[in-house]
Amino acid sequence: VIPDPDLVARLVARVGDHLLAPVRSSDPVLRYGAPDSIRASFADSVPLDFLDTEPAHDADELLAATEAVMAWSVATNHPRFVNQNFAGPDPVGVIGDWLGAALNTTGATYEVAPVFTLMEHAVLDKLARLAGFPRAATPDDVPPGMFCPGGSVGLLFALQLARHRHDPAVTTRGATGGRYAVFVSTSGHYSTRKAAALLGLGTDAVISVPTDPTGAMDPGALAAAIEAAPADGRTPLAVVATAGTTVTGAFDPLDDIAAVTGARDLWLHVDGAYGGSALFSPRQRSRLRGIAQADSMVWDLHKMMGMTQQCSVLLVRDPTRLDQCFAENADYLFQPDKRNASLDAGDRTFQCGRRTDVAKLWLSWKAHGDSGFAARVDHAVALADHVRARVDDGDGTFAFASRGDFTNTCLLWIPPGSRATDTASLPRDLRDRLHALAPAVKARMQDEGTAMIGYQPLDGLNCFRLLFMNPRVTADDADTLLGLIDRYASEVWAS
Ligand SMILES: Cc1ncc(COP(=O)(O)O)c(C=O)c1O
Repeated sequence: VIPDPDLVARLVARVGDHLLAPVRSSDPVLRYGAPDSIRASFADSVPLDFLDTEPAHDADELLAATEAVMAWSVATNHPRFVNQNFAGPDPVGVIGDWLGAALNTTGATYEVAPVFTLMEHAVLDKLARLAGFPRAATPDDVPPGMFCPGGSVGLLFALQLARHRHDPAVTTRGATGGRYAVFVSTSGHYSTRKAAALLGLGTDAVISVPTDPTGAMDPGALAAAIEAAPADGRTPLAVVATAGTTVTGAFDPLDDIAAVTGARDLWLHVDGAYGGSALFSPRQRSRLRGIAQADSMVWDLHKMMGMTQQCSVLLVRDPTRLDQCFAENADYLFQPDKRNASLDAGDRTFQCGRRTDVAKLWLSWKAHGDSGFAARVDHAVALADHVRARVDDGDGTFAFASRGDFTNTCLLWIPPGSRATDTASLPRDLRDRLHALAPAVKARMQDEGTAMIGYQPLDGLNCFRLLFMNPRVTADDADTLLGLIDRYASEVWAS
């Protein structure tokens, strides 16, 4: 069924206009809708739900539906979207994504994706250079990692690699062997537990390692936890260190952690899903000192770098392990006697069909250059620094739940009568009211469409988590965000 070229042209033009239209501060960040309102608004064009026999819809209806999709969607590129550790997108990256999609192929084999295969090699090589990982000696050798669909999946693959190194028979005999221990800090991402569950290690295998007050793993506590595991019948398998924790943006001390894992021959995986991009900036990269000693690293380019979801890489110190762990040598796809068979990437991962996510990163990186990527990271840190300075110099309206020193900072709004008080010594009833304040403020922001700011409990108290990922955000926007929190919080507190 060939679609009407006029329909395709109109859709391209409309979505292209959206991409090109600079979002203005005066625009709403979102139009919050309950599910019924959203469903109802599609009823006049193309209903969201499907009938038993769904008719084909004409171009006008489909354009109207596209309009509705845009109207109800959150403007993540808005300067007052600081809700999560992504924002964006980078428009050049979007076009790179379209390019890959328009050419619709799979990254599995060189024969169907010759350019994208070479691009993957080139990009992985450059990322490995930034991380100090070993690089392929020649362009025909195995590249130093793999693209994968997100940081959580990359972590899953990394833990399987760790287990396979420890027990190569696991892929044939199955996971019937010993009870393992995987160590991650209490501030680490929940994907470690999910991966442990899916791999059959069990979430009980995940040992939480205490952190310092900033949220960075305590290497002494890690060593102690590793030493204690055998007495509990567990074999230490891997350590997941975090470069940029999700909530406080803390960086685990990788060099100290590598000393602990190296002495015990444990797999060191670095979860740089969020903070790996600090490596793009000469001013920020020392946060990952020691990264070159890791066995693997996950790096999400769809977080700080504005690539469309997903764009994620798993770097591996010894990338031949990917083949050993994942290859099935399916002879309908990976025929060894075809031309350039050795370039096929498909058996170095669990996936079969695989999006060519490299296209967007390659195009964007080439468009912005190393300096553009570095500037993006530096700008994000500078904005968070700006907010930290405002709080330091302020009248006590805000206090830090976690100051952070990277791109995010977690703030408490303090009611007028308590501004001189240490937040830890606020009375119980006040803490309870403050805890309930953040969701109420968030709901007001959503109702009025003025901002999207995340909140979450830290030490049992909901705080506002501001994450600066978007190069469009200015210091004035950051001030406006603080003003909005103050306005809504004051109103809710007084009500
Ligand atoms: C530190 C960290 N690790 C891993 C992840 C998971 O990455 P993904 O969402 O790409 O699966 C996140 C997501 O926010 C994260 O912040």
